[in-house]
Amino acid sequence: MDIFEILKNRSRDLEPLISSYLKEGRPDNLMEAVRHYPRAGGKRMRPVVAMVVADAVGGKGKDAAPYGASLELIHNFTLVHDDLMDDDDTRRGLPAVHMKWDMPTAVLAGDALFAKAFEVLADVEVSDDKLRRLLKLTAQSVWILAEGQQLDTDYENNPNTTVDNYLNMVEKKTSVLFASAAAGGAIIGGGSEKQISDLYDYANMLGIAFQLWDDVIGLCGDESVTGKPVGSDIRNGKRTAIVIKALSKGGRGHPKYDELLNTLGNQDASDQEVKRAIEILRELGGVSYATELAERYVKCAKEKLGCLPDSKHKEFLVALADFAIGRSY
Ligand code: IPE
Ligand code: IPE
Ligand code: MG
Ligand code: MG
Repeated sequence: MDIFEILKNRSRDLEPLISSYLKEGRPDNLMEAVRHYPRAGGKRMRPVVAMVVADAVGGKGKDAAPYGASLELIHNFTLVHDDLMDDDDTRRGLPAVHMKWDMPTAVLAGDALFAKAFEVLADVEVSDDKLRRLLKLTAQSVWILAEGQQLDTDYENNPNTTVDNYLNMVEKKTSVLFASAAAGGAIIGGGSEKQISDLYDYANMLGIAFQLWDDVIGLCGDESVTGKPVGSDIRNGKRTAIVIKALSKGGRGHPKYDELLNTLGNQDASDQEVKRAIEILRELGGVSYATELAERYVKCAKEKLGCLPDSKHKEFLVALADFAIGRSY
């Protein structure tokens, strides 16, 4: 199954919606900054999950398009702020918003995207009860995401961070938008409470696997493909599962650990030092550990799809779980 092709096809109901909502607005510089990431593309996984899930429970995927568009705007808002927080210069192969404009514009562009997302959400054509449920789900998700992002920065350079801390943080910063995409799609499509809950769990686990793999390609990927800086997690001292596992095997005093610890969290580390740190993380088994852990989450995610009748939509959701950890960007 060609996941990219399907993501693109399913986005056909989405792109005009996103563009139309971002058409009007002032001032021009803020509007250009607001449109910068949405226009640059991205995989559109969250909205497509919402639409496919709506189909998979027996509803109409198209009905979930505005909800998906709303989530994609929220995702883009979090990327604008995330790049500012992580001090990353590129995203989707383009200069980050705070680089192309400046920090205040990036803060405001994020805020504006977040506001727009709720305007779009109001246009989902469902009963008032369902709309209230979607509203609450969305607002709670962004709150949880903020919690996750705070933990992500709190754990930077913190040697006591455990794999459990990491997994909890990832569920909050990354899984929550996938999970609310799936649950919201199931609500819009008229799924049962059991389906809504199982599909939430499916996407939650897919999200964990997705982030574990994102951390792997953030070290071992190709910048011209990922469109974002490789090795930035090292300079920022991020406590990814890769780093936590590698460091769990020893500490200061051993040449390899010393070399790694001297580079982790060092904003001024040279490209050569970062390259060597990545090599060490591989040698100490951090990369293979994260990959195997991601595979386990993918397997558990797929098991949750037992709540769905067989269909091509269900097959896509199975394949999407594999894609979460096979993708090169
Ligand atoms: C990037 O998400 C942020 C993470 C949660 C790792 P995506 O990889 O889905 O980004 P785009 O939307 O395709 O650019
Ligand atoms: C992912 O953040 C989660 C959010 C953006 C909310 P990361 O910082 O791990 O992801 P990338 O690598 O910048 O996309
Ligand atoms: Mg980041
Ligand atoms: Mg981040």
